[in-house]
Amino acid sequence: MSKQDIILCKNPGNDLTAAIQKCPHDKLFILTDEHTTTLCMPALKNIPVIKNAIEITIGAEDTHKTLETLAFVWQALSEKGASRHSLLLNLGGGMITDLGGFAAATFKRGIAYINIPTTLLAMVDASVGGKTGINFNGLKNEIGAFAPASSVLIETNFLRSLDASNFFSGYAEMLKHGLISTNAHWVELLSFNTEKIDYNRLSQLVGESVQVKEGIVLQDPFEHGIRKALNLGHTVGHAFESLALAENRHILHGYAVAWGIVCELYLSHVKTGFPRDKMRQTIQFIKDNYGIFSFDCKKYERLYEYMLHDKKNTAGIINFTLLKEIGDVSINQTANKDDIFEMFDFYRECMGL
Ligand code: GLY
Repeated sequence: MSKQDIILCKNPGNDLTAAIQKCPHDKLFILTDEHTTTLCMPALKNIPVIKNAIEITIGAEDTHKTLETLAFVWQALSEKGASRHSLLLNLGGGMITDLGGFAAATFKRGIAYINIPTTLLAMVDASVGGKTGINFNGLKNEIGAFAPASSVLIETNFLRSLDASNFFSGYAEMLKHGLISTNAHWVELLSFNTEKIDYNRLSQLVGESVQVKEGIVLQDPFEHGIRKALNLGHTVGHAFESLALAENRHILHGYAVAWGIVCELYLSHVKTGFPRDKMRQTIQFIKDNYGIFSFDCKKYERLYEYMLHDKKNTAGIINFTLLKEIGDVSINQTANKDDIFEMFDFYRECMGL
């Protein structure tokens, strides 16, 4: 997989112009959603290289990450004269960068694209690393491709207008990057004042977080080995998301990951000796900032079933990424049904359910 340029914007106009000039193209397209077209597009409109760009706008949120929306984007590209030499800019959160990346990867067997993430989750995770795709058949990111953006432009000023839930959703992925990298980064993240956000400090933390992800993706772009470190919290997190979806409870991805981290740190403690004090400190941060995803013991079987169908599994064996210590990752771990039910007991007890 080719390397992406990840640019922490100092001057968005210059940075975007340079990124676009790096990709010779005949026509320029911008994919936005119904929020970013009004909230973020005005910040770009006056940049001369954008002047003749053709905007394609789709519905916002994960409910639009569908085959129908993808077909709408292909159709729009086709009708507005896109060729194999056209360039697509994806301006939005993870839904836009995932779906737009997949539209680019597949249109005429692949056109170049640039990501401009506008949410914290997209900046530190979704827009970086070349995973693209859509939801299908009730399953998240079921259809997709590894196809890196040519450049990812991170303009943290967009974060100033982010609501609290979307801030915390992205912050969960940053916390995950802290846990899988260094003690110092984990401490910085736990001590960040989330009630009164210092945006300059947040920009620095975003830069560090992106570096953690980039370093891992460079070693293992197609997730054969160490990229699985990025799945910490996601085996249980995805099961929580599936349960929430089935019960019409709206939860953001990062919240599910945070609650998944609570469970998987417990498994890490039991199976690979992750220190109890660091588990407790991390859980306290999650309890204080994310609240609780509630379920009773009648839901254990169902959550277990969701985990059995996770696409990260091999031959029906549930795959976990666990930690021995902060920054000391054990990939390809497994747990039996008793371990998993015990983990849910722990979660419910420590979260006060
Ligand atoms: N979101 C995890 C990864 O990119 O591998």
